Amino acid sequence: MHFELTEEQLMVRDTARDFAVRELDPIAAEIDQEGRFPAEKIAMLAEMGFMGVAIPDQYGGGEMDYVSYVVAMEEISRACASTSVIMSVNNSLVCDPLIKYCTEAQKETFLKPLASGQKLGCFGLTEPGAGSDVSGMKTTAVLKGDEWVLNGEKNFITNAPNAHISIIFAYTDKSKKHKGISAFIVPMDTPGVSCGPKEHKLGIRGSHSSSIFLEDAHIPKDNLLGELGQGFKIAMTTLDAGRIGIAAQALGIGRAALEEAIAFAKERQAFGRPIAKLQSIQFKIADMATRLEAARLLTLQAACFKDAGKPFSQQSAMCKVFAAEAANFAANQGLQVHGGYGYTTEYAAERHFRDARITEIYEGTSEIQRVVIASNLLRG
Ligand code: CAA
Repeated sequence: MHFELTEEQLMVRDTARDFAVRELDPIAAEIDQEGRFPAEKIAMLAEMGFMGVAIPDQYGGGEMDYVSYVVAMEEISRACASTSVIMSVNNSLVCDPLIKYCTEAQKETFLKPLASGQKLGCFGLTEPGAGSDVSGMKTTAVLKGDEWVLNGEKNFITNAPNAHISIIFAYTDKSKKHKGISAFIVPMDTPGVSCGPKEHKLGIRGSHSSSIFLEDAHIPKDNLLGELGQGFKIAMTTLDAGRIGIAAQALGIGRAALEEAIAFAKERQAFGRPIAKLQSIQFKIADMATRLEAARLLTLQAACFKDAGKPFSQQSAMCKVFAAEAANFAANQGLQVHGGYGYTTEYAAERHFRDARITEIYEGTSEIQRVVIASNLLRG
């Protein structure tokens, strides 16, 4: 068993770390406060191959492995969780299903510009009445001649207001239940496709989310992704991979909370000495670090399974739920270490507390991860 990153993975980590320190740390608070989409930083991530980390060079990607994606995500998230979720959605919810399910022609047209970061993607699964219950969706796609006509509404779609291309899930045959859902590649400038206003969110405020409205939106017949009726499976396998990225994001947010709590505890004086000397503070730091380390191991294990071509659905659900809960624990404890200062915007502790919260909700709530884990264990 090896616990060491390879030379190449270490290089990716160091590149992402340098970028995060140099480019993101100075502006992360501003991105959050202004709710500003960091377009210029996304362009720089694209230059480094980080918008399509695990996509082959031939299709515009960075040609790295999923472990590299995880270590890069942790570093970017440590500095700015808004930037990292924009990167995560493009990588794992858009490029990953495109490399798996696209035809060669679709890869040329759609994957290349997305993996190289010239374009940005989003993943249109959730609907106002269908979040955890994917099959409850109402969006439909009807074939008319050489075109699919899409109607429906998607909501809470991360990246939607800034995206050029979306993957939209829709019923092509409602009578077949989940087997009647198909996936489509939908350019966002298609007539009949529009976005609602940006959501006002608790955290990750520089990443924009909105509804997508589909009103008689015509797309070419060839924009079907994968096979007819394969949409539910495409969504599930995509989320399996995506959840590893969100676990890495949680890890980065939790690590930021830990590192800042340590720095504050060494500086802040109480009862005549730094609070780091108090056992009550030391225990918090020890528990934060231990949970984050366990989360890191689970996350890297899931990425290793994916890289090795092994089934990883259970590992991905385990790392997602554990890392998200570890991040929320760390962010909460980190804020507590800061005392009253932690409740103000003078310190980043309150941002980490707000940013961490979404990791227990998107790409499958913590409850859904437990459903996935239990159903894997109880199957057969
Ligand atoms: N891989 C492959 N196939 C899978 C699968 C997987 N991981 N999970 C399920 N399937 C297959 C099953 O084997 C089954 O196949 P058959 O019909 O051939 O037997 C079929 O799919 C149906 O499975 P279930 O009966 O388990 O389906 P379900 O309706 O009970 O749903 C669920 C299961 C786990 C609850 C699933 O719906 C789920 O994961 N829900 C959460 C959705 C989610 O994560 N949404 C996040 C939105 S995206 C987002 O958040 C992006 C963002 O903003 C950043």
